[in-house]
Amino acid sequence: MAHTPKFAHAVLMTNRRDAMRDWYCAVLDAHVVYEDPMICFITYDEEHHRLAFLSPPPGQPFAERAPHSAGLMHTAYTFSDLGGLLARYESLKARGIEPRVPIQHGVTTSLYYRDPDGQFVEMQVDNFASAEDANDYMRGSEFAADPVGPVYDPALMLADFKRGVPAATLQTRGWALGGPPQPHAMALFAAP
Ligand SMILES: [Fe+2]
Repeated sequence: MAHTPKFAHAVLMTNRRDAMRDWYCAVLDAHVVYEDPMICFITYDEEHHRLAFLSPPPGQPFAERAPHSAGLMHTAYTFSDLGGLLARYESLKARGIEPRVPIQHGVTTSLYYRDPDGQFVEMQVDNFASAEDANDYMRGSEFAADPVGPVYDPALMLADFKRGVPAATLQTRGWALGGPPQPHAMALFAAP
């Protein structure tokens, strides 16, 4: 019998512990389960902690401990449906937290936020009901032609969703490309 571990948590080293704690608690609708001057643990579901923020131990420069690391690109969180993703988008926008890179990957509809340290956090919803269907899409021509996908306007998506456009229509590259012209995703990722 195979023993497959499930992902449990990540620990981010940061020099802005309080700002990171507050931002992740807002974005993930999480709460603090423990904190002291060195470390802070948060969770948002049945796991006892999902993220922790650690002040760097003195005398251990990151570049010496992990000399081949070029940094973290992003972490990602999946909602069960488009309504969940758009509700979180709307509530975070009201708090002044807006996505930096909205991408219609084809396989997922994604919103990339930047945390206070500058790292990206992807909030997403799967566009296919099964991993098998998603893998079929990733082997197809649309994905091969552009494995990143177009940037879309999330405010327009929310407006269309509220006026009854089906999620199956909104969660497509066709819908994304039908909106106003957008910058390339890589230009948005590289923006300061
Ligand atoms: Fe991702």
